[in-house]
Amino acid sequence: MTTTLIRGRLLSFNRAPQAIDDSAAYSYESDGALLIGDGVIEASGPYGVVKAAAPEGVTEIDHRPHLIMPGFIDTHLHFPQMQVMASYAANLLEWLNTYTFPEECRFVETAHAERIAVHFFDEMIRHGTTTAAAYCSVHRASADAFFAESLKRGMRMIAGKVMMDRNAPQGLLDNPQMSYDETRAVIADWHGKGRNHVAITPRFAITSTQEQMEVAKSLVGEFPDLHVQTHLSENRDEIAYTCELYPEAKDYTDVYARYGLLGPKSLFGHCIHLSDREADAMSETGSVAVFCPTSNLFLGSGLFPLRALTRRQKPVRVSVASDIGGGTSYSMLKTLDEAYKILQLQGERLNPFDSFHLMTRGNAEALSLVDRIGTLEPGTDADLTVLDMAGTPAMALRAEVVNSLADELFLLQTMGDDRAIVETYVAGRPAKSSLGAN
Ligand code: GUN
Ligand code: ZN
Repeated sequence: MTTTLIRGRLLSFNRAPQAIDDSAAYSYESDGALLIGDGVIEASGPYGVVKAAAPEGVTEIDHRPHLIMPGFIDTHLHFPQMQVMASYAANLLEWLNTYTFPEECRFVETAHAERIAVHFFDEMIRHGTTTAAAYCSVHRASADAFFAESLKRGMRMIAGKVMMDRNAPQGLLDNPQMSYDETRAVIADWHGKGRNHVAITPRFAITSTQEQMEVAKSLVGEFPDLHVQTHLSENRDEIAYTCELYPEAKDYTDVYARYGLLGPKSLFGHCIHLSDREADAMSETGSVAVFCPTSNLFLGSGLFPLRALTRRQKPVRVSVASDIGGGTSYSMLKTLDEAYKILQLQGERLNPFDSFHLMTRGNAEALSLVDRIGTLEPGTDADLTVLDMAGTPAMALRAEVVNSLADELFLLQTMGDDRAIVETYVAGRPAKSSLGAN
C-alpha cells in the first residue's frame, strides 16, 4: 500500500455556516497536510503534526499555496445530455421534445454510450467533481456504460437507468415490466461494485404511467436503501400537465407520495414552485429539493426559493446541482455563482462559506453519504479538489487584492471554472493531471 502526504492549505466544513463570520462551521489549516493510504484519508491536520506521524520516506506532494478541499459533489445531472447543452429552446417541455428526447435515443447504441461516458468522467474530473447523481437514458446499455466507466475510474457515483413509458418518442420508451426487470438487473450488476450506487430513476410523472409508478413503488419497497431520483415542480406547464395526468393526486408532490417515493434518500430535481402543503410533505419525509441554478435560468423555469424552503418551520433539505444538459456548466463553482445571483434577485444572500459548504459537505449530507465523502475527516474517501484563485490572468489580477478566506472563496466562485482546478484526486490518485493517459 502506498502512502502519500499531500500538503497545502486545507478547508473542510463541520456543519452549515450560520453567517459569514461563523468560523466554527469550518476547519482551516494555513499549512496543512493529508495522509492518504489505500484511497482513504488517514490523517488530516497541521503539516508538522501529520508529517511527524507519517511513515519514513512517505511520498510528498506540495500544493502550496493552493487550497485543498473535499471533491465537489453534483446531486443532479444527465449523462446522455452532454450534446444537448446549449440548445436553443423557449422552455422545459419544448427543450425536452425538440432536443433532449431525440438525443437520448442515440444511447440505445452501446458504442455511443461508452464514448460519451468517457467524456462525462473526463469533464467531472476536469471540473473537480468527484461524485455525481446521474440520470442515464432509458436504455440499459447507457447504465452499463456509465457504471463500467465509473468503476474504471474508481469514483463514487450514483446513477440509474431512467424509467419512462409514455409521452416520449418510441425509441425512448420501456414498459412497466421492462423497467422493473432492467432496473433490478442494473442493481444486481452494479450496486456496491467499486463505489457505484444505483438509484431508482423514474424520469418524472409525465413520462410514467400509473402502472410504471407502481413498479417504482415496488422497487423502493424491495430496495429501501437505494436513492430515488426524479423531477418535481420545475415549470408551470409541466405542473399543469402532471395534474391532468394524475387527477386523483392533491398536487404534483402527492403524485410521488402516493407511490411511496418520498423519503430521506429521495432527490427531487428543481422544486421551484412548491405549495406550502408540498413543502410540508417534503419536510416531513426528509426528501431533498435539488437546486439547479444554471438550468433554472437557462430554461426560464423560475427562481428556486432556497431561503423560503430552509427557513420555514418545517424546513426542507436542499442540495445543489448542475443539471447538465439543461444546465450550462459542468463547474460547481459556476453553479454556485448563478445560485448567488438567484438569491440576489430574491433579496437574499448566499455567503461564500454557504456556497462551498453546499458543494461539499452539504451535498454529501443530502445524499446521506457524509460518512464517506464531502469532508477531509480521517476515515473518509480521499476525493479532493485543489483550487487556485489565480487560475486565469483575470483571476490572478483580482487575487492580488484578496486578503481573507471569504474573499478567496468568493473570487473562486464568481470568476472560477475548470481553470481554477489545479488537481482532482479520486480515492487518493491524481486524476486531473492523468487525463488523456487513461
Ligand atoms: N424533466 C424531465 N426530464 C428532464 C430533463 O432531462 N431535464 C430537466 N431539466 N427537466 C426534466
Ligand atoms: Zn434533470
